[in-house]
Amino acid sequence: MTLDLFDGEGVEPRRETIAEGAVVLRGFAGKAGPGLLAAIDLVASQSPFRHMQTPGGHTMSAAMTCCGELGWVTDRRGYRYEPRDPVTGQAWPRMPELFLKLASEAAAEAGFENFVPDACLINRYQPGAKMGLHQDRDEQDFSQPIVSVSLGLPIVFQFGGPRRSDRPVRVPLGHGDVVVWGGLARRHYHGVLTLKAGDHPLTGACRYNLTFRKAG
Ligand code: SIN
Ligand code: FE2
Repeated sequence: MTLDLFDGEGVEPRRETIAEGAVVLRGFAGKAGPGLLAAIDLVASQSPFRHMQTPGGHTMSAAMTCCGELGWVTDRRGYRYEPRDPVTGQAWPRMPELFLKLASEAAAEAGFENFVPDACLINRYQPGAKMGLHQDRDEQDFSQPIVSVSLGLPIVFQFGGPRRSDRPVRVPLGHGDVVVWGGLARRHYHGVLTLKAGDHPLTGACRYNLTFRKAG
């Protein structure tokens, strides 16, 4: 028995396949948007958004925080998962129930049953922010998918192949859209183009992305 929190229950979600193993579930998280945004605020009141440094010494343009047992961090020492927030010295905030439910229901909708994430990276983009092409490869188990939720302003997502040089497809993502990738697509390069200025009724001038992973 599931609550009717997400689209896809009762109604057929609009599903677009962008690569073998990668789908966009249009609007899947739209209904839950206000609840998800309230949960983001609660997480950020405990572990604030910050701009992390890449190992190469660049400052990331997206501000980030995390919740769950493990949080993804980057600094001059590299990319990794940590059980504690290096800013607060405390454990990362608990993963909100609504996050867990959304991630596992979206994964199941995409064909990945029993997904239980232990890490959620929360990205906040303001106009001008972007995320270059990269692989998600700091996790232990690549049989587990990635569930990526868009909230607020629209952006263009890029989804490529297993090599950096593979030409990516461009997929516009809006509020409530969820991208799930796993299987053959799990290590494909992806990123987002620069966020354009705008005003969203729920998030104002920004876009949030929740990336759910089974990291440990
Ligand atoms: C990421 O894959 O790291 C973020 C993608 C997004 O913001 O949609
Ligand atoms: Fe990623």
